[in-house]
Amino acid sequence: YKRVTVKSLVDMKKRGEKISMLTAYDYTMAKIVDGAGIDVILVGDSASNVMAGHETTLPITLDQMIYHASSVIRAIERALVVVDLPFGSYQSDPKEALRSAIRIMKESGGHAVKMEGGKEVKDSIKRILHAGIPVMGHLGLTPQSIYKFGTYTVRAKEEQEAQRLKEDAIMLEKAGCFAIVLEKIPAKLAQEVAKSVSIPVIGIGAGAGVDGQVLVTHDMIGMTHEFNPRFLRRYMNLYEEMTNAFTQYGEDVKSGDFPNNDEQY
Ligand code: KIV
Ligand code: NA
Repeated sequence: YKRVTVKSLVDMKKRGEKISMLTAYDYTMAKIVDGAGIDVILVGDSASNVMAGHETTLPITLDQMIYHASSVIRAIERALVVVDLPFGSYQSDPKEALRSAIRIMKESGGHAVKMEGGKEVKDSIKRILHAGIPVMGHLGLTPQSIYKFGTYTVRAKEEQEAQRLKEDAIMLEKAGCFAIVLEKIPAKLAQEVAKSVSIPVIGIGAGAGVDGQVLVTHDMIGMTHEFNPRFLRRYMNLYEEMTNAFTQYGEDVKSGDFPNNDEQY
C-alpha cells in the first residue's frame, strides 16, 4: 500500500476525490478499518464515551489517548493516523500544547494531532506546527466545550456564530492546518467553508458539500444503539447480532452443547 499522508489528502481535495475517515481506539478495530482502505483513522477522544463509558469527552487523559493511539499505530499499513489532543492538554498555553503534541508523536507514533477551536488556539497550532507536527482543526459542535454550549444540537445556525466559524476556518488554513473537521453544522454553511479554503474539510453531520466524511466506527456498525442523530448512517446492527451471539453462547454453555466432541483435545 502507498501510505496516506497529509499531502495526499490535500491532493485528493484538488482532484475532487472524497476523503473517508473513521475512528479506532484499539489494534483489532484499526486493522479492519485500515484493511478496508479507509484513508484516515482518528484516535478520537470519543474513546472517553465509547471505550470508557464517560458521559462526555472531558475526562480522558493524555496518557489514555497515547495508549489508544499506540495500539492503533501497531495495526496500520496505509491510513493516516490522527490523534485527538484531549481536554486539558492544550488549552492553557502554547508550550503546554506543544509538550502534549510531542508526547503523542513520540510515545504513540501517531502521524498528526487534532485540536478543537478557532482563534483561541491559533498560537498553540502555530507552535505545534513549528515543531513539524501536522495539525487538524475542529470547528462547529466541539464536544470539549459541551458545558459552554449546554446542548448537543446543531451549531452555527445563527449568523453571528456562522460568520465566526467561517473566519476561524480561514484562520486555521492560514495558521497551517492540513485539514479541518466540521461537526454538526448546517450543510449550506459547511459547503461554503469547504469552498473558501484549499485544505480538506471533513464533515460529521455537516452535509454532502464537504471534502470528506467521518463517523464514529462503533456508531456506524451499530455496536452502540442509544445514540441516534440524523447524520448517523448505520451499516450494521452489531448490538443485536452480538446480543444474539452472547445469548446463544450462554445457552450452549448451560446446556452442555458447547464444547462438542470436535471442540476439545
Ligand atoms: O473524537 C471523535 O470521534 C471526533 C470525531 C467525531 C470527529 O472528534
Ligand atoms: Na474528538
